[in-house]
Amino acid sequence: MNEITIIKPDDWHLHFRDDDMLLETVPATARCFSRAIVMPNLVPPVMNADMALSYKERILSARPQGSDFMPLMTLYLTDKTSVEDIKAAKQAGVVAVKMYPAGATTNSDSGVTSVESRYPIFEALAENDMLLLIHGEVTHNHVDIFDREKEFIDQHMTKIVESVPNLKVVFEHITTKDASDFVLSAREGVAATITPQHLMMNRNDMLVGGVRPHNYCLPVLKRSSHQEALRQVVASGSNRFFLGTDSAPHARHKKENACGCAGCYSAWSALELYTQVFEELDALDKLEGFASLHGPDFYGLPRNTDTVTLVKEEWQVPDSINLANGEPIVPFFSGREVSWKLKA
Ligand code: DOR
Ligand code: ZN
Repeated sequence: MNEITIIKPDDWHLHFRDDDMLLETVPATARCFSRAIVMPNLVPPVMNADMALSYKERILSARPQGSDFMPLMTLYLTDKTSVEDIKAAKQAGVVAVKMYPAGATTNSDSGVTSVESRYPIFEALAENDMLLLIHGEVTHNHVDIFDREKEFIDQHMTKIVESVPNLKVVFEHITTKDASDFVLSAREGVAATITPQHLMMNRNDMLVGGVRPHNYCLPVLKRSSHQEALRQVVASGSNRFFLGTDSAPHARHKKENACGCAGCYSAWSALELYTQVFEELDALDKLEGFASLHGPDFYGLPRNTDTVTLVKEEWQVPDSINLANGEPIVPFFSGREVSWKLKA
């Protein structure tokens, strides 16, 4: 197959950042995605309806002319988030709340220190027909970084899903067979997003032959058996799994650093790389479900009606992209060949 046309996809998990960065990140995503779930981990985080609405306006202002791209806003769950905050967010059109265990990743300092204390909020989300999006990693020092996702399932995820039976939960950017098995066997209303890097790579791609900071993200890449499990689950076509790039730009000097930031800026190549993965898996017929159907169906939103076409054509991801202020960012897969291209 040399060409594939699918319903226009959405990105169910990404980081646009703010201010000048939006002029880079919003067009990069709007080139092929119709909507995106926008993560709230700004500094300070997006903690209430007013902050979400003003952030949404800044994103809309950064759209290319003529674009009808639509950001879907989320709130950042803190120890102080109240049931009133949830009701106000619902009124403002916020669709979901993101829970970061405090310290789990970039700008998660204001995250949740006690999951136990947040059950009234989980109930309020279910009552207001909003989703709970979870960064599923524990943060205790004594837990090995490669075990943190599994540990989160055992300590928290199972209980959240079972205790609040009508809450829709998205297990974000899953990285392990433990997580894909958990989602497959969970009750209705539990789904997961999967990034391009976790389908294409394993921890060797980060650590063999030198440390590769541009492949460093959180949850960190795992061993190849986990990568293989994720590939098999997307190839199966299960509607519990959908596209979420976790595109997460950091300036080059913050990645190439003695203490480098986590995040892969994949917006410029993510859809093409997913296509490449589905082709490798001989599952191109499952791409549209993953990219364009399972997400809106799970969120209870309409499917898109227009389409995008990808053609089999080699191109190279640029080595570096400059922000408006001249600062360079190294995109995910920089300098490497991609075998599918979005048709203009
Ligand atoms: O790699 C990551 N980068 N994982 C996250 O959870 C956050 C993100 C970011 O904001 O940079
Ligand atoms: Zn993320």
